[in-house]
Amino acid sequence: MTDSTIQHTINQLREALRYHNQRYYVLDDPEISDAEYDQLFQKLQRLEQEHPELITTDSPTQRVGGAALSGFTEVRHLRPMLSLGNVFNEEELLAFDKRIHERLKLEAKSDLAYVAEPKLDGLAISLLYREGVLERAATRGDGETGEDVTQNVRTIKTLPLKLLGNDWPKLLEVRGEIFMPRKGFEAINQKLATQGQKTFANPRNAAAGSLRQLDPQLTAQRPLAIYCYAVGIVEEGTMPATHWQQLAQLKEWGLPVSDLIEQVQGVQGCHAYFAAMGKKRDQLPFDIDGVVYKINDLNLQEALGFVSRAPRWAIAHKFPAQEQVTTIVEVEFQVGRTGALTPVARLEPVFVGGVTVSNATLHNMDEIERKDIRVGDFVIVRRAGDVIPEVARVLIERRPQNTRPIELPTVCPVCQSHVERIEGEAVARCTGGLYCTAQVKEAIKHFASRRALNIEGLGDKLVELLFAKGLIKHIDDIYRLEAEPLAALERMGKKSAENLIAAIDKSKQTTLERFIYGLGIREVGESTAKAYAKHLGSLEALMAADETALQTVPDVGPIVAAHTVQFFAEAHNREIIQHLRQLGVSWNDYEVHTEVLGALAGQVIVLTGSFSRLNREEAKERLEALGAKVSSSVSAKTTRVFAGEKAGSKLAKAESLNIPIADEEALLALLETTKNT
Ligand code: IVH
Repeated sequence: MTDSTIQHTINQLREALRYHNQRYYVLDDPEISDAEYDQLFQKLQRLEQEHPELITTDSPTQRVGGAALSGFTEVRHLRPMLSLGNVFNEEELLAFDKRIHERLKLEAKSDLAYVAEPKLDGLAISLLYREGVLERAATRGDGETGEDVTQNVRTIKTLPLKLLGNDWPKLLEVRGEIFMPRKGFEAINQKLATQGQKTFANPRNAAAGSLRQLDPQLTAQRPLAIYCYAVGIVEEGTMPATHWQQLAQLKEWGLPVSDLIEQVQGVQGCHAYFAAMGKKRDQLPFDIDGVVYKINDLNLQEALGFVSRAPRWAIAHKFPAQEQVTTIVEVEFQVGRTGALTPVARLEPVFVGGVTVSNATLHNMDEIERKDIRVGDFVIVRRAGDVIPEVARVLIERRPQNTRPIELPTVCPVCQSHVERIEGEAVARCTGGLYCTAQVKEAIKHFASRRALNIEGLGDKLVELLFAKGLIKHIDDIYRLEAEPLAALERMGKKSAENLIAAIDKSKQTTLERFIYGLGIREVGESTAKAYAKHLGSLEALMAADETALQTVPDVGPIVAAHTVQFFAEAHNREIIQHLRQLGVSWNDYEVHTEVLGALAGQVIVLTGSFSRLNREEAKERLEALGAKVSSSVSAKTTRVFAGEKAGSKLAKAESLNIPIADEEALLALLETTKNT
């Protein structure tokens, strides 16, 4: 290849890469695959390596280059970088629009043409393109002078180092916002955290910190993004006459412009845009803190000019701040209807996310520990969208001397029953399930439900009503109800009251498993209740069993066992049970064969595949009768697997865990030869 054909090839490759960059990053509509792009890129890289004299700074291969700096150079902006005035409500927006009408001597009724844009929460940047080539990027600084961050800005992949086309002015200044999308922010923070380094408080700080890295290699690893929103200096060239057209032109040259930007008419159009963005806000991949309205006609912009440091032709309409600093005055624990204790921070009231917030959930004790929250701390309270306000983080550096650690209460703040916190669970709970007024309404609904005591007619709505009228306070009160006061209830009548009393009476004769299930012990569903009933035989035995004994019952693990023991350990619950029995609730106990805890005790067996001579259900029962636990899934606890025909994933899992495997023959032999002693 001659020198000129090499130069030509290099030029063509660069053009192609720039074009595909725009398709990918700006238009979000790539024409070629990533692999094809990489091929072009590598070809260019190779040619440049062979001919280093042909490398130019605007080549797509030259994004990350240069050595680390010792500091940033100051640059004077060719035209000051201004800020924007703010409005916070419709009234202020109307006043802004009215001022413009008056200044331009327009009829009050005529609608002005605006461009409405998201107000990106990042850092303003000025980009100078000379002859279409990115020459300098500078931060806003104080508006007059900023810092030269060209090396770092070049690493932002969506930004062209050279503009597309050839119709750009000789000198073009573009202004925009550098920001960090939320996903990238989270990834960076995770990485910093695993490296034991300080994390960033929000995407804006992360963007600022990344842009001010002295080593561009580091900046290149940060997921920065940019959107352009204005044109500054233009020399030797022309630009379109409206802001909207200018943005379209920038986009054509390959510069990233947000596609959330819209043309709107008058204050009404502005307001509709504000409302729509407010709704979209939480779903956007980046933070915005409001919207910006700009007069579209550049002649009108010029006529309006500036006041102090902001243009008269544009205004920022801010969303209410989503974060505020306040202090934690006290922490209280709320008891939910499932007994869960939720720590709630009482705050010095603050206006955040558009409302005054004086409480924030702290979720659970793990969360408190993780965030290191104490009473008296200065904290950042966050309220995003419609979500419940929360304490985002503690300002540790502002921690006063006399803060107090938050302790989980040992008894329920509502009913004084004991509080349990099972190992491995984040949530602490009140154990007074039958007694605690915070939980009792739900407990009654459950107790009366079809699969529990099956009290016909005592549905959720009626429970609510009886509770509201004070006719029942606890479960045992169901059996103290009398027809007369019931009949006096709205929409009740004599007949239905009598029917209800009859149904309540009928429910007294029940089964042990229904009663156990009806108690609403956490994690004890119908099948566990049944297993308890069949294997332990009586309520007395269940109440007396410790965690080890409970775990000999099929499918009962340590967590269910712990919940069960805690439930019966609570005197309040035992008392209610006693009342229920005194009021006539009864059942027949089961006979238990004590030798059942026999020959195969401790074995955890899994049956899989199909058996030809044995019925699987029957095999299961016989194994259980021999004291084995028959489980439906293979785990490290499994001691043996019997596999029939066409056994699949369970068999494979058992193999991978090195668990002894045998066939139907062996199972038959085992059942034949094993006897409980
Ligand atoms: S226009 C002369 N448009 O907001 C007008 N600014 O509060 C200059 N910002 O310093 C700004 N999104 O960093 C404009 N779509 C947008 C913007 C935007 C974010 C930032 C910008 C500016 C600050 C003013």
